[in-house]
Amino acid sequence: MPGDTARRTESIELDGSAGVVKARQLVRSLAQEAGLSLVDQTKLVTAASELARNTVVYGGGGRMEAEAAWSNGRSGVRLLFADEGPGIPDVELALTDGWTTGGGMGLGLSGARRLADEFDLDTGEGRGTRVTIVKWAR
Ligand SMILES: Nc1ncnc2c1ncn2[C@@H]1O[C@H](COP(=O)(O)OP(=O)(O)O)[C@@H](O)[C@H]1O
Ligand SMILES: [Mg+2]
Repeated sequence: MPGDTARRTESIELDGSAGVVKARQLVRSLAQEAGLSLVDQTKLVTAASELARNTVVYGGGGRMEAEAAWSNGRSGVRLLFADEGPGIPDVELALTDGWTTGGGMGLGLSGARRLADEFDLDTGEGRGTRVTIVKWAR
């Protein structure tokens, strides 16, 4: 992305609940370093938690990549959640509040989209899932 720079991407293995805990801790510390407010730190950690859990539960495990980000003089945090699982056939449906195939609340993906400043979902039937979110300090 033009104007964006990043350094030191850290990767966390998401193979179970221990990975989700580690991901939450890393996201909290990157959010603090980026100067996000306490409220925005919590929004980002909440979004990350939901996406990490989806990676474990539906994606069959995967990883989170996390890095500091800068754009137009703002600092932020960029997170990627990637798995090689079954993918999501209907993205619009998956982003609908309350839609779940796993008996959950169906608010993870839609909630993460609302909580982040930028949200990108790259998936499809049979090709895994990649979700990228960014949260900027304001
Ligand atoms: N990484 C993923 N791989 C495959 N399917 C996923 C993934 N993440 C989400 N989904 C699908 O999207 C649905 C909605 O996810 P979400 O909004 O987090 O709700 P919930 O986790 O409560 O089901 C899931 O039930 C699942 O069918
Ligand atoms: Mg979920």
